[in-house]
Amino acid sequence: MNLPDTAALLYQATSRLNKTSDTPALDAELLLCAVCGIDRSAVTCDQSLVLTNRQRDFFSTLINRRAAGEPIAYLLQRKEFWSQELLVSPEVLIPRPETELLVEQALEHLPDQPCNVADLGTGSGAIALAIASERPNVQVTATDISQSALEVAMKNAVRLGVQNVTFRQGDWFTPLADQHYRLIVSNPPYVRVGDPRLEVGTLYEPVDALLSGYDGLDALRVICAAARRYLDHQGVLILEHACDQKIAVHELLSQGGFETIVCNTDLAGKPRVTWGRREK
Ligand SMILES: C[S@@+](CC[C@H](N)C(=O)[O-])C[C@H]1O[C@@H](n2cnc3c(N)ncnc32)[C@H](O)[C@@H]1O
Repeated sequence: MNLPDTAALLYQATSRLNKTSDTPALDAELLLCAVCGIDRSAVTCDQSLVLTNRQRDFFSTLINRRAAGEPIAYLLQRKEFWSQELLVSPEVLIPRPETELLVEQALEHLPDQPCNVADLGTGSGAIALAIASERPNVQVTATDISQSALEVAMKNAVRLGVQNVTFRQGDWFTPLADQHYRLIVSNPPYVRVGDPRLEVGTLYEPVDALLSGYDGLDALRVICAAARRYLDHQGVLILEHACDQKIAVHELLSQGGFETIVCNTDLAGKPRVTWGRREK
């Protein structure tokens, strides 16, 4: 069969990715576009595009890395979250679509007047930048223990032109100093050490962004225990957690002095995000 150049390359690449990816043809197209610096419509319309030897070698390297399980977001160095394109690198967790539920909850809890919000463990800045861009009158403090993650987040803020986020490095509440917040949000690490459900792709992500002790609750314990004193009266702490941590998180929030506690489910009906309000 005498296929035009790009069509043949895409065909071979798709077959190679069949075992690794749920979307092999899409992945192959996206990687080809990245290599050639063109958008997807150009590939779909013109499959007779001819690659230089250099482009062909680079494409082949990327396909091999994808076939070995490396996430497409790291290969493309970007990921869309809350309709914003974020830079991502292996220094940061790849933002997940289910975390958009946490952003929705945060926006629902924000009053119309200016206030302070903290995002603990900001990673790529996904949550902080989504909230800040939706609410320019809110001042967001985004923290992370990882300086290299914060550098990615700061680049994202500049690229997106978001100015109402301040980035601070440190352990959970340490960088918040004496300030009080209307809202504290966090998608902390919550995977159990040795959890057999970890996918191959997560092996490429920073371990400190995922794992949190023998039951996955170490970070959630620290955050629930200390958050109340950093919140305004009527302030709210919103947390993402694993589906099977709903009861444990409810208990931790209750022990942390939160009076009203509500769990929200994701689109698949799974308990994913729990918030607690400081009533007094
Ligand atoms: C699950 S990732 C979430 C990243 C981002 N917020 C998101 O939703 O895509 C958890 C983040 O918490 C950070 N982290 C882990 N331990 C921390 C600590 N002790 N203090 C502050 N941040 C921490 C990690 O570096 C990582 O960026």
